[in-house]
Amino acid sequence: MATTYRICPRSGLQFDTAAEKLMRWHAVAGVLALLVGGIMALGVVLTRWPDVKLLPADTFYMVLTAHGIDMLIFWIIFFEMAVLIFASSTLLRCRLATPKLAWVSFWLMALGAIMTNVAIFQGESSVMFTSYVPMMAKPHFYLGLILFAVGALILVVVLLWTPFGFAGPMGGISATSVAVAACLGLLYVVSLVDANMSARAPRRRGSGWDV
Ligand code: HEM
Repeated sequence: MATTYRICPRSGLQFDTAAEKLMRWHAVAGVLALLVGGIMALGVVLTRWPDVKLLPADTFYMVLTAHGIDMLIFWIIFFEMAVLIFASSTLLRCRLATPKLAWVSFWLMALGAIMTNVAIFQGESSVMFTSYVPMMAKPHFYLGLILFAVGALILVVVLLWTPFGFAGPMGGISATSVAVAACLGLLYVVSLVDANMSARAPRRRGSGWDV
């Protein structure tokens, strides 16, 4: 069977060929989103600067929407996916489960990101990062976000699936370690949700927590 991984001469880490290519594409897509969001940040800052006030209101809100979404959604999640692929394949020494499905998810995310950006720059979707009702954007703004989210979810499933049974010639790690890592991850998510809920819960008077 042909080798499907390489060993990095510097770190000694094993990189599955399919996973490495996907990591690169996700990282590059993330950096492109960062670039667009960063250029938009300049527009936002130069408009907020009272002595400059670069952009008129309409354009300002369009640019602010693009900045918020490209920075907080597209850049962060694309890059996060690159890191997750690295963790699930390289760190756990596994071949990527179903590379084809992973590519479908990448293209869904890319198509979604492009579609939402097109909708924003067409100018009638300046609903900002939060997309609050009753502000209405064009349908392809929301469709783009949905495609992006579906793509990201599919990839997460592929990455959770990867450590189970895809060790192949790369060795893999023990099922116990995967289970411990999964439990720690779950604990982390539960603690975040709990912290969020406690922050929102109404405080009892006299409990010492009154603000
Ligand atoms: C990864 C880094 C960054 C993230 C995740 C981020 C995210 C955001 C988000 C979500 C908003 C709110 C957008 C909205 O209300 O629709 C925002 C606004 C803004 N950002 Fe960023 N941003 C980042 C980097 C930057 C940088 C580098 C600059 C400056 C050069 C910048 C300047 C601003 C300004 C001026 C606003 C508008 C604040 C206001 O007018 O209320 N951001 N950013």
